[in-house]
Amino acid sequence: MDRFISEETAVPSLAPDRAELAPPRRKLFVKSYGCQMNAYDATRMADVLAPEGYDETKDMGEADLVILNTCHIRERAAEKIFSELGKVKMVKDDRASRGLVTKIAVAGCVAQAEGAEIFRRQKAVDLVVGPQNYHRLPDMLRNAETAARILETDFPIDDKFDHLEPPTRAKVASRGVSAFVTIQEGCDKFCTFCVVPYTRGAEMSRPASQITSEVEHLVSAGVREITLLGQNVNAYHGEGTNGTSRTLAGLVAELATIPRLRRIRYMTSHPNDMAEDLIAAHAGDTALMPFLHLPVQSGSDRILSAMNRKHGAQAYLDLVERIRAVRPDMALSSDFIVGFPGETDADFEATLDLIRKVGFASTYFFKYSMRPGTPGAQMDDQVPEDVKSERLARLQLLADEQRREFNASAVGRTIDVLFEKKGRHPGQIAGKTPYMQTVQVDGPDDLIGEVAAVEIIGTSSNSLFGRLVEQTS
Ligand code: 5AD
Ligand code: SF4
Repeated sequence: MDRFISEETAVPSLAPDRAELAPPRRKLFVKSYGCQMNAYDATRMADVLAPEGYDETKDMGEADLVILNTCHIRERAAEKIFSELGKVKMVKDDRASRGLVTKIAVAGCVAQAEGAEIFRRQKAVDLVVGPQNYHRLPDMLRNAETAARILETDFPIDDKFDHLEPPTRAKVASRGVSAFVTIQEGCDKFCTFCVVPYTRGAEMSRPASQITSEVEHLVSAGVREITLLGQNVNAYHGEGTNGTSRTLAGLVAELATIPRLRRIRYMTSHPNDMAEDLIAAHAGDTALMPFLHLPVQSGSDRILSAMNRKHGAQAYLDLVERIRAVRPDMALSSDFIVGFPGETDADFEATLDLIRKVGFASTYFFKYSMRPGTPGAQMDDQVPEDVKSERLARLQLLADEQRREFNASAVGRTIDVLFEKKGRHPGQIAGKTPYMQTVQVDGPDDLIGEVAAVEIIGTSSNSLFGRLVEQTS
């Protein structure tokens, strides 16, 4: 769908010369659902709107603009948005009774997939903006002063975040020392269960120079860890210097030279794009952290083939072995879909078997959810809900056991921790190990943003507890 302004639309007036007119201060409330790429987009939307006079608030009731940044990956995610929109409408009505105007925008993948349908289902919505159009928000909002409803869901060639102001120290202080940077969007893999190739479009990589400059700005504003994001991040093939193409490994090597950037991570990776140079980049003492989110989805060859994953279970196990040969302490994480159409007990057992063989540090399980327009939705043999639930519970037990084992294996070790924020209790600070485990220690706030050696002395279900050994930075 292209650009759409409803029949009720009046012709928007031209924006006044903004150089002469300081914008009035207004409040922005953004609620983000789904993946980290959405979280990144949410921060960038706030950045795009800051020069327009919008300051972020955590209180929806005082917001002049409410943005729901939506996720469409599973059915429940989309339905949640419509119920949330009902609540936002109540806030809008309440504010209207006090003479206050509230604009409601729906962004993200539901916006992309449902488009104008959103206006039909919830009349209080003013703007619908797809993931590739956030740079147009200021114009859309100006037009919305006069137009009734505005929709932007095309896939423009201009970069949505190309012309952004660099982040300030104050922003980094409130957002934290670990930041996301989207380097790649969209996907050409067409797994048969997945809406991403339809909602986020074809695979595209940002030029390396643009990413490097964004990361440099973030680091000079206080960021110490970067997670490079993409739906298929290891397919990254951005423009390098002199018309060459950069691989993800090449980009990481470039970023690793930025002084004061302590840690680099990336997600989400596809097993078939785990190139040799990327595996090699994990060797030794490197800024590239030994944690890899590498979804396999299923341990059954039959199901992997029906999912169009284009590799079998053994190929995944072989890949894990090659990665661990280079980096023996690599912590692995994966997504699994339970109850894909046609999944039998034997297929499910194959998944349990694969999980036992790999030993995951963390796992995410999703009941298969039929997404309209994907091949999976047309498949016979949909698995009944109760079977999905029963399998999910068994997977969860095994995963919990593996996570507990993984955390317990850290006890007694001394591990580098990047401190990110104040801890749960006064006098505590919290940070992450290279393996993405949260650690709480007694320590001073001025260690936030620093890497320090911590002796791990205990675990709970979700955290590690440690004692500061010495500061290494
Ligand atoms: N049903 C259930 N889970 C899904 N995922 C993607 N599409 C679906 C679907 N239709 C899961 C996959 C993916 C993660 C982000 O969401 O496991 O890796
Ligand atoms: Fe979706 Fe990931 Fe498959 Fe792409 S590789 S279609 S994003 S599950």
